[in-house]
Amino acid sequence: MVNASNKLLEVKEVHKVFGKGQSETKALKGVTFDVLPGEFLGIMGASGSGKTTLLNVIATMLKPTSGQILLEGQNISSFKGGQLAAYRGNHIGYLFQQFELIDNLTVKENIVLPLAIHGIHVSAQEQQLSELVNRFDIEELLNKFPSQLSGGQKQRVAAARALISNPSIVLADEPTGALDTKNAKVLMEKLSEHNQLHRSTILTVTHDANAASYCSRILFIQDGVIFHELRRNVLGESQEAFYERIVMVMAQLAGGSSNVL
Ligand SMILES: Nc1ncnc2c1ncn2[C@@H]1O[C@H](COP(=O)(O)OP(=O)(O)OP(=O)(O)O)[C@@H](O)[C@H]1O
Ligand SMILES: [Mg+2]
Repeated sequence: MVNASNKLLEVKEVHKVFGKGQSETKALKGVTFDVLPGEFLGIMGASGSGKTTLLNVIATMLKPTSGQILLEGQNISSFKGGQLAAYRGNHIGYLFQQFELIDNLTVKENIVLPLAIHGIHVSAQEQQLSELVNRFDIEELLNKFPSQLSGGQKQRVAAARALISNPSIVLADEPTGALDTKNAKVLMEKLSEHNQLHRSTILTVTHDANAASYCSRILFIQDGVIFHELRRNVLGESQEAFYERIVMVMAQLAGGSSNVL
């Protein structure tokens, strides 16, 4: 659906409260931001700051306590039942820190699983499948089972699975969190390539400034609110220079000196 604003995602004053009374936790306290089509957006912030909660309300795995989330102009917070399932199936790709592959399915079966669940025949996505298999360098692995793969290989398979149905947005929760430096770099490079070639929109949570330096914009979240935003200067800022700026904000966040920004 085309909407006048050209925004892909609009998050408006989203609050999320868990529990009641004494055990109440305000995980999100009024988060507002937009995402344009084709952005590679990073979310950073300390443990417990609300990053996963934010991803999960966008994925409709959690319902916001108040506020609105619009995807392509549609208010997804009001979706119910079949509408929700269709939204998740057609619009959302999810990439988890712990890969979450299904052990008794082969790599190929894992990748095409989202298609099967939503009644799309693999033949309709054959080209997409072969491109993803190439991009994520997993040709040799298609008939193996997850237990036969390294962590880096597992996450590249999981990335292909998240992208197979051409979702409007891919949500990734610390996708490099369980990877070593080299595999983390490979994954981010490949996600970034895919983002640039297909203008696919990716929103990724990360603790790692290296991983974040592949993004085009970073939102820093602290205690349930957006505290700062960094944009990579499209006119020639190197990844290294962007990395340096990210590290500076991280240091300021850790030191609690929000007034220096
Ligand atoms: N299902 C839940 N029930 C109660 N409290 C929750 C629930 N999920 C999250 N919280 C609380 O909400 C706050 C935000 O949690 P969230 O998981 O979003 O943080 P995070 O930024 O993803 O942290 P991390 O970097 O450790 O993954 C925390 O205080 C957490 O304890
Ligand atoms: Mg989290």
